[in-house]
Amino acid sequence: MKGLLITLEGGEGSGKSTQIQLLARWLKEEGHEVVCTREPGGTPLAEEIRDLLMVPRAETVAPLAELLLYQAARAQHVRDVIRPALQRGALVLCDRFVDSTSAYQGAGRTLPEEAVMELNRLATDGIWPDLTLILDLPEQEGLQRARNRGSDDRMMEETLSFHRNIRSAFQRLAQEEPDRITMVDGCLSPEEVLEALKERISALLQEHSLSQERSS
Ligand code: TMP
Repeated sequence: MKGLLITLEGGEGSGKSTQIQLLARWLKEEGHEVVCTREPGGTPLAEEIRDLLMVPRAETVAPLAELLLYQAARAQHVRDVIRPALQRGALVLCDRFVDSTSAYQGAGRTLPEEAVMELNRLATDGIWPDLTLILDLPEQEGLQRARNRGSDDRMMEETLSFHRNIRSAFQRLAQEEPDRITMVDGCLSPEEVLEALKERISALLQEHSLSQERSS
């Protein structure tokens, strides 16, 4: 695959979406084709599934139903947006991806890790992030920030300990895969966070252009 897939992850209110816009602007200025997208979402069908997943509802959603809906949205998104962009050589910046499923449906909903991973692999069909940047923030702080900007989706109704488990899961993932995943302190100022992200992405771009030179 000619392009690169960079995913941003973190708990609620971690500032991913703001950073992704800033990163996209910077990378475009550097002359790259950038595709900025998000999960769940990114295609008309996947955005409809997002609406189904986000809306607070009286009925409790079965964890397995939730997992399958996230994966259904992902299969559509990978096939129609991410894979074609990577084949063209674009840099794809994706707001959440497979690690959110491991953290939220695995650690949060306590679904078996292997089942979550198996479905992650099925839905992504051979596509995996080249780099994952996790914005780490104490759960209370993140939830407060999310509430301040008016967010009231279904996950926001969960307990503090649910969100604490999500944070620990992201921290564990970063420890397990230090080559792919870099964790950045979300308590830093937005400017400092941006600098840290840019530094890591610059290193990836350098490695990528060296490996392309070698193979040509
Ligand atoms: P956000 O994009 O505004 O952060 O909202 C997406 C919500 O969906 C967030 O609460 C995390 C959740 N989510 C999962 O639970 N599993 C997933 O696989 C993904 C992509 C998101």
